[in-house]
Amino acid sequence: MDTLVENTISHLPRIGDKAPSFKAVTTQGDITFPQDYEGKWVILFSHPADFTPVCTTEFMTFAKMESEFNALNCDLVGLSIDGLYSHIAWLRTIKEKIEFRDMKNIEVKFPLIEDITMEIAQKYGMIQPGESSTKAVRAVFFVDPKGIIRAMIYYPLSLGRNFDELKRALVAMQTADKHGIATPADWRPGEDVIVSPAGSCNTAKERLETEDMKCSDWFFCTKSLPLN
Ligand code: BEZ
Repeated sequence: MDTLVENTISHLPRIGDKAPSFKAVTTQGDITFPQDYEGKWVILFSHPADFTPVCTTEFMTFAKMESEFNALNCDLVGLSIDGLYSHIAWLRTIKEKIEFRDMKNIEVKFPLIEDITMEIAQKYGMIQPGESSTKAVRAVFFVDPKGIIRAMIYYPLSLGRNFDELKRALVAMQTADKHGIATPADWRPGEDVIVSPAGSCNTAKERLETEDMKCSDWFFCTKSLPLN
């Protein structure tokens, strides 16, 4: 088998696809994904292994921020190819023993999926053999309230994720949906957004008159959003 074929995963989910569905056992009971999360955003993310340091810092950070994600109508669901009893023991150890930055006594309340068979990890392209064939990479899938994959980010094993960026991406997508706009580089809530180019000069003129936009050229218009 040549390397290309060997490294090719049969079908990776793509942005705009329906999130592949599965049933799973988690630290918070059984779930059916994405059906159980209909009407909410959900971030499904994988980590390489329980009882590893980078993953531990990620879980503590995500657990600390969980209420911020919940306030944005977004649930968190973790996954690794470890078993349930490993997950339970690791999360207990985190709570009882681990201190990191200003965090200690951190309880992970969101579900952590056991996936010993790697069936779910394979469905989501989380096993990337060039990086590891026995551990999931650090994948992050943003699934919207209709069960559609809206964004995905993959990180290698050695790179801990930036959870402020995950929150920023979620808020940006929700803002784009709500207002029909796009967000520029490094956008933060409260900053001006991008208005998509008008189809014709007439529409552009009409829009300039009716919308409070700033245009540097026909293709580059920004506007502020009402504060809510
Ligand atoms: C970690 O989480 O520390 C880790 C896991 C797998 C490989 C390298 C680091």
